[in-house]
Amino acid sequence: MAKQTIKYVCSQCGAVSLKYQGKCFECQSWGTLEETRILPEPKSRKEGAVAFPGTAPVRLHDALPSEGHRHMTGIGELDRVLGGGLMKASAILVGGEPGIGKSTLMLHLAACLSPAKILYISGEESPNQIRERAQRMQVKADNLWLAPETDLEAILAVIEKEQPALVIVDSIQTVHSTQYQSSPGTLTQIRECASLLIRAAKQQNFILFLIGHITKEGTLAGPKTLEHMVDTVLQFEGEGYQRYRIIRSVKNRYGSTNEIGVFRMEENGLEEVSNPSEFFISGRQTDVAGNSILAAIEGSRAILVEVQALVSNTNYSMPQRISTGFDLKRMSIILAVLEKRLQMETWGQDVFVKIAGGLKLIEPAADLAIAAAVSSGLMNRPLEATAACSAEIGLSGELRAISDSERRIREAAHLGFKSIVLPEANTRSLKPSLKKLPIRIAGCRTLQEALTELGI
Ligand code: TYD
Ligand code: MG
Repeated sequence: MAKQTIKYVCSQCGAVSLKYQGKCFECQSWGTLEETRILPEPKSRKEGAVAFPGTAPVRLHDALPSEGHRHMTGIGELDRVLGGGLMKASAILVGGEPGIGKSTLMLHLAACLSPAKILYISGEESPNQIRERAQRMQVKADNLWLAPETDLEAILAVIEKEQPALVIVDSIQTVHSTQYQSSPGTLTQIRECASLLIRAAKQQNFILFLIGHITKEGTLAGPKTLEHMVDTVLQFEGEGYQRYRIIRSVKNRYGSTNEIGVFRMEENGLEEVSNPSEFFISGRQTDVAGNSILAAIEGSRAILVEVQALVSNTNYSMPQRISTGFDLKRMSIILAVLEKRLQMETWGQDVFVKIAGGLKLIEPAADLAIAAAVSSGLMNRPLEATAACSAEIGLSGELRAISDSERRIREAAHLGFKSIVLPEANTRSLKPSLKKLPIRIAGCRTLQEALTELGI
C-alpha cells in the first residue's frame, strides 16, 4: 500500500500547500487551509492499475442513446430544466439556500417516480420529520425508503444492498467519510464523498441527486468543485418570504443551460407555474410611471417580465444607484446613455431598479426595458400599457439586434399585448406568419425612437 502524505488544501481555491499556513498563498484567504491525506500518484501504470479493461471506441452513429434512456419525472417544470427528463446514471446537484424548498421538491419527485425504488438519505432530518412533511404535502410514494445516514461507507453499503433506481442525498454537506480526518462539511469531505457517490451512480446505474446548501456568498459550498463533477447543476432561486421559486439549470450535460422552471410554494408543497409570463406580470399597475414590460428569453421560452424603476430627488451628495435582479454596472451605462444622448439627466436623482418576481435578468435585450422604465419614472409619465419591448442599447444610443425575436413577438401577442418595440435589424425580414399576429411590431433604430414608440 502506498504511503499517505499529509498536505494542506485551501477550501476556497483548492491550492495545495506542504505546510500549514494561516493565509492561503494563492488566493490570500485566511484560515482556509485544511489538512488532507493524499495518496501519492502511482509510479507506473501497473501499480495503480485500474480494474477497467478499457473501452473499445464506438462509431458516432452507433452511440445514439436508445429509447427509454430518459425518464420523465412528470413534473413539467422540472423536466424542462433537466432538458427533457432524467438521464440514467446521471448525477444532479440541487443547490439553494436553506428553507427554499429543496427537500420539498425531492419529495414531489419521489412521489412522481413511484413505483421506482427510491432511497432518500437524510443527514439533516429524521425519518419522522420527513414523514410529517410528506403527510402535509399529501405525498404518496410507496417505494420510497428513508435512511438517516451520514457515514459514506454505510451509505454506499445500503445503496449496494437496496439497488435503488434513484438516490437522494440530503445534503451532501452532512456526508462524511472516516477515510479523511477533516470534519463534515469541509471541502475535502464534500469533494471526496461526492466523487465516490457519483462513481457508484455511474457503475450501478442509478440516478443521483445531491442536495447542496448555498453559502452566504451565493456559491455552492465546496467552491465550484462539485459543479465540475456532476452532470447537471440546478439552482433554486427566490426569496424565502415570497411564494415563487425559480429553478435554473446552470450546467447541463444533457440539455440547454439557463432554462428555468417556475414554482409556487403552497400549503401542500410546490406547485408548478406553467404560464410564467402571467405570473411575472400579474399584479402590475398600468397607470404608474416607471414600469415597463420586457419580452425576455429564459432558456427555450419567452417570458414577459415587469421592470420597475423609481426615480426621485436625492438627499445625498452622491445619488444612490440600486438594482435588484439587474447588473448595476449595466444600469449605470444605460443611465449614462440616457444622459448623454437624450439629455435625460439623472445625476441629481436616486435611481432604484427592480425586476418583479425576483427574476435575474442577464441578457442584453433587457437594456431597453430598463431605459424605458427609468425614463418613464424620471418624466413621471406612464408608458403605453399594452406595449412590450426588447433591445440591446449601444453606447451611441442605437438599438442593437437581439436573439430570438420571433418567440418574443409570439409571447407578447399571446398575452394580448398590442405592440412590441424591437431593434429595426430584427424586424426587417419578418415571417409572414408573424405579420398576421394581432400585434404591431415596431422596429426602431435608436433609443429615442423606441421611447417615443413606448409613449415617452
Ligand atoms: P424545505 O424543502 O425544507 O427547504 P430546504 O430543504 O431547501 O431547506 O422547505 C422548507 C420551507 O418551505 C419551509 O419554510 C416551509 C415551506 N413549506 C411550505 O410552505 N409548504 C409546504 O408544503 C412545505 C413542505 C414547506
Ligand atoms: Mg432540506
